[in-house]
Amino acid sequence: MDVFGAIKGRRSIRKFKKDPVENEKLNKIIEAGIWAPSAGNLQSWEVVVVKEPELKEKLAAAAYLREFISQAPIVLVICANKRVCSSIYDKRGSELYCIQDAACAGENMLLAAHALGLGSCWIGAFDEELVCEIINIPDLLRPLALFPLGYPDEKPYPPPRDDMGEFVHQEKFH
Ligand SMILES: Cc1cc2nc3c(=O)[nH]c(=O)nc-3n(C[C@H](O)[C@H](O)[C@H](O)COP(=O)(O)O)c2cc1C
Repeated sequence: MDVFGAIKGRRSIRKFKKDPVENEKLNKIIEAGIWAPSAGNLQSWEVVVVKEPELKEKLAAAAYLREFISQAPIVLVICANKRVCSSIYDKRGSELYCIQDAACAGENMLLAAHALGLGSCWIGAFDEELVCEIINIPDLLRPLALFPLGYPDEKPYPPPRDDMGEFVHQEKFH
């Protein structure tokens, strides 16, 4: 699968088979995150790999009872590391770059998962404080997304995208 095939073929998956995810595949996905660009190459992000059923259930509850999250064999919690980035870039580092670093890594991981035959979904709707409490995330990290990860048990139709003309502006914004 080439990069364009992966970009267009990836879908948000919200239904998973019970089959476990092989460690080799999980490592490849995380490695894809590691090779994402990051501000000053500081790689200001972290990922918590959650497999324990009880913790997954608590995470699903923190995400307003989205049950499919706990049904995935793995939930990745993608966090921005404010401390690492602010050490060099001050406020811009802690408020912006670490979020961008984590988002770049996250998208790489979603694409890698798809290329390996796995599925996931960027879950942004959750109670941050509760997620921090459940998996022990310290103050200087901010959880940005939950990625339930597993073999897809659905093949969603691609949601439409806007035409280029809707958001591409030549020379100046208008
Ligand atoms: C920042 C962000 C937050 C999202 N939050 C949620 C969420 O809380 N729950 C959910 O089911 N999907 C969530 N999604 C997935 C989007 O709904 C999905 O990407 C979009 O509808 C396009 O579908 P596709 O990913 O299959 O192309 C989120 C995606 C992004 C990028």
